[in-house]
Amino acid sequence: MNSAAASGAAGLAAVETVAAGEPLLVANFIEWRDAARALLAHAIAPDAITWAGQDGAADLLMSAPVPAATPAQARVSIPRSLMDMLQNAACCRQHDRWAFLYRVVWRWTHGEHDVQSAADVDGARLHQMAKAVRREEHDMHAYIRFRERPEEAGAPRFVAWFEPAHDVLAQVAEHFVARMGKVSWLIATPDASVMWDGATLHNTGALVNSGAELVDSGEALWLTYYRSIFNPARLNAQLLQSHIPSRFWKNLPEGAVVPEMISNAAMGARRTGQMEAVGSRRGTTIPIAPAAAQPGRAQPSSLDQCRRCDLWQHATQAVAGVGPATARIMVVGEQPGDQEDLQGKPFVGPAGQLLERVFGDAGVARRTIYLTNAVKHFKWEPRGKRRLHKTPAQQEIEACSYWYEKELETVQPEVIVALGSTALKAVLGTNHVALKDTLGTPIRHQGRWVVTVYHPSYVLRVPDQAAKDQAFKVMVEGLKMAQGLLDQAAAPGL
Ligand code: URA
Repeated sequence: MNSAAASGAAGLAAVETVAAGEPLLVANFIEWRDAARALLAHAIAPDAITWAGQDGAADLLMSAPVPAATPAQARVSIPRSLMDMLQNAACCRQHDRWAFLYRVVWRWTHGEHDVQSAADVDGARLHQMAKAVRREEHDMHAYIRFRERPEEAGAPRFVAWFEPAHDVLAQVAEHFVARMGKVSWLIATPDASVMWDGATLHNTGALVNSGAELVDSGEALWLTYYRSIFNPARLNAQLLQSHIPSRFWKNLPEGAVVPEMISNAAMGARRTGQMEAVGSRRGTTIPIAPAAAQPGRAQPSSLDQCRRCDLWQHATQAVAGVGPATARIMVVGEQPGDQEDLQGKPFVGPAGQLLERVFGDAGVARRTIYLTNAVKHFKWEPRGKRRLHKTPAQQEIEACSYWYEKELETVQPEVIVALGSTALKAVLGTNHVALKDTLGTPIRHQGRWVVTVYHPSYVLRVPDQAAKDQAFKVMVEGLKMAQGLLDQAAAPGL
């Protein structure tokens, strides 16, 4: 069967799937394109289709009733420029990408040519998706690091591990084919790998679970070189870190030494570097006082360098607490979630939004609260393409208590609100107290009040609406109780 016939057959199968009311599973752009051609030819409207992505998750939970497919029309034609954009945007990992792309072509084929313009709402999104993919390709070219392997028959000479945010492996592989000539290499990612044997590209599926499995001895040499070219006098840590987004650091060999070099630089290596450089220039005078030349700097934070347990290895970054150091209430959650891990701030995802509502209903101003987590790195396990939260183990809570204690020392809160049982374990330093036995009753612990409430994720998860409302109320009452304890302490005579 030639490929045109094959794509025709795939398209027809797609029409039948939709007509049967089943979700339509597409794994890549080619499959989507074949299905979209047939669906357009049968005039099947976007809202009649439930698209499902590679991991089988339906893009839309419900689809409209399926109309009978109309007889096929002539093949639709899409301009090359739009097709290129669709192909690019198809690599952007968004849960509804196939449905969105179909809506775009549907609109275009129905005369709405503005859909290709950035001034249109769908057009703007299309442009953004294509841009995000181009950016990811660029980042992958820039931040991938090949490690040389000992020579071995049939094995690639260089290997690299990368965790792309979008599906750009195929394009990036073409780039390295052109760039690295006949040298053999392998690029592994969490979902797929490609190998170039010097003449042919092979798709080799997902081979390893992490870059750690690919590390080699040549790395020591590279790190020595990197250290030797690092000039603390020229360091602009912010620029350095903003040039390389934090999610790439953990897979860069130099990522292991940069935090240490930055803090050494801030603590004196920069001064030494300057003294050596300036001192070697004969006859130079510096017309400013040393104090002005060395203005006070913020203490380097070493939470980013924390290796007290293994969670840092799979997290994008450590997430420190936020809020005023004068806060009288400290709210302690469990650990950052997916959004928090990416943004580097606690409670910015769905649990954070629920928490905002709790604060609002309890009449507590969020800006007065210090908000943190018992564990500062995101612990997760892969599920399809998603990162699912995994409850931290006791030893991880204990390892991270070091940071929690530092926060307590700095903030000195009068009341601590523990969200859920992990936070309760961290706050009391024991796992012998059950959350359900403490709800509604404040505990006196080390000179402070501890109030316990449910974790917002629990409230989000409870399926039954009445139970959800009840759990939400427990949270609001807990926050009111925390505020009340402060008011009591402030009342005259207490
Ligand atoms: N859940 C938490 O416990 N903390 C966060 O920061 C986000 C979700």
